[in-house]
Amino acid sequence: MGEIQIVQGDITRLEVDAIVNAANSSLLGGGGVDGAIHRAAGPALLTACRPLGGCPTGEARITPGFRLKASWVIHTVGPVWHGGDQGEPELLQACYEHSFALALENSIKSIAFPAISSGVYHFPKQAAAVIALESMLAAHNDFEIIIACCFSASDTALYQATINALV
Ligand code: APR
Repeated sequence: MGEIQIVQGDITRLEVDAIVNAANSSLLGGGGVDGAIHRAAGPALLTACRPLGGCPTGEARITPGFRLKASWVIHTVGPVWHGGDQGEPELLQACYEHSFALALENSIKSIAFPAISSGVYHFPKQAAAVIALESMLAAHNDFEIIIACCFSASDTALYQATINALV
């Protein structure tokens, strides 16, 4: 029976099998958590991403973690929020589902997610947290530990309140 943990901190420092990157469709790096992961992993991560040829929104790709403590990085591309009637919720759910599927294919047992799409992509934080935690609850028996890694204290409190309402 897997465990879901909500922690506040920098995802690049977590000692898990895989961390998930909230990337953009180019997979060539960016700001936010994407920038932090590329800085921590080192330039080899970009070199590994280039031949992947990008990633469509809602899908996921996997690379080694290089200098990260995590052995793997699963890059997923969240939807940009355009008001919620362009399939954004379904695409965000697909990010989690495809990331979990890739993790299972690679025998990953511990995985950490950032709050995908809730930064630069402006997905409403509460709605994004519900989608994230419902996906984690659906997948948790397949993993030893799933970490929701929140960067701010307010996001951590939101995730904690959200999972308390879901279970
Ligand atoms: N560890 C954990 N979470 C982090 C970190 C970090 N080091 N840095 C940022 N975050 C959090 C943000 O606070 C936010 O809650 O990750 C969440 C996702 O925010 P973004 O990184 O802005 O990602 P997103 O909203 O999905 O936008 C993706 O931003 O950085 C670019 O290249 C990226 O174009 C893509 C877009």
